[in-house]
Amino acid sequence: LAGRKPDPALGREARQRSLHNNYLTLPVVFMMISNHYPIVYGHPWSPLIALGIVVGGALVRHFFNTYDAGKLDWTAKAAIPAAFVLLVALVALTGYRPDAPTGGDVAFADIHPIIQEHCVQCHSTRPTHEGFPEPPKGVAFDTPEDLRTFAKQIEQQTVLSKTMPLGNETGMTDAERQTLGAWVQAGAPMR
Ligand code: HEC
Repeated sequence: LAGRKPDPALGREARQRSLHNNYLTLPVVFMMISNHYPIVYGHPWSPLIALGIVVGGALVRHFFNTYDAGKLDWTAKAAIPAAFVLLVALVALTGYRPDAPTGGDVAFADIHPIIQEHCVQCHSTRPTHEGFPEPPKGVAFDTPEDLRTFAKQIEQQTVLSKTMPLGNETGMTDAERQTLGAWVQAGAPMR
């Protein structure tokens, strides 16, 4: 509009951003979905896992790019097996828990107060938490048997990943998490 010649550096910069965005497409989609799967982001090494997912997604994207352009070369062909190995390695890594509980002598009386303090305001048939008119995902801890039914999920959500209590609103401690985990490991005893 000013009648001056535009600076070509701006165009080059835009092209570079576009290239970055292109390679980030798959990791971004995956990470958006992963919010529902705490095993991805609740691991203590989640930054490392996220980095691996970025690299793995970019490798797959590299294959798409060269395939679409009809320029499949060896780097594109190697990208898929490389991404596969990397992602399988990440899955194996998430199976390893440096802080996993080992079990022990934990009674129902040890865990019941923890659930009462940190969970039932949201997870009961009539939640007292004002943000939740209904128990999230239908998970309600109304009776001791409910805790037993959901034992594996409780371990998953509070010990293996620290997703619950949501946003750690209630300030749950690591010791409380270990106690819950030990109870589940002990077979979720009712006494
Ligand atoms: C502030 C409210 C709140 C508190 C407190 C809370 N949760 Fe949740 N919980 C949620 C919400 C919201 C979801 C659904 C999350 C989603 O959609 O991924 C959920 C989901 C769950 C699920 C189901 C997960 C699934 O995807 O199957 C379990 C199990 C669970 N919570 C256990 C617990 C335990 C155990 C505690 C206490 C240590 C707890 N929650 C405390 C809000 C809460």
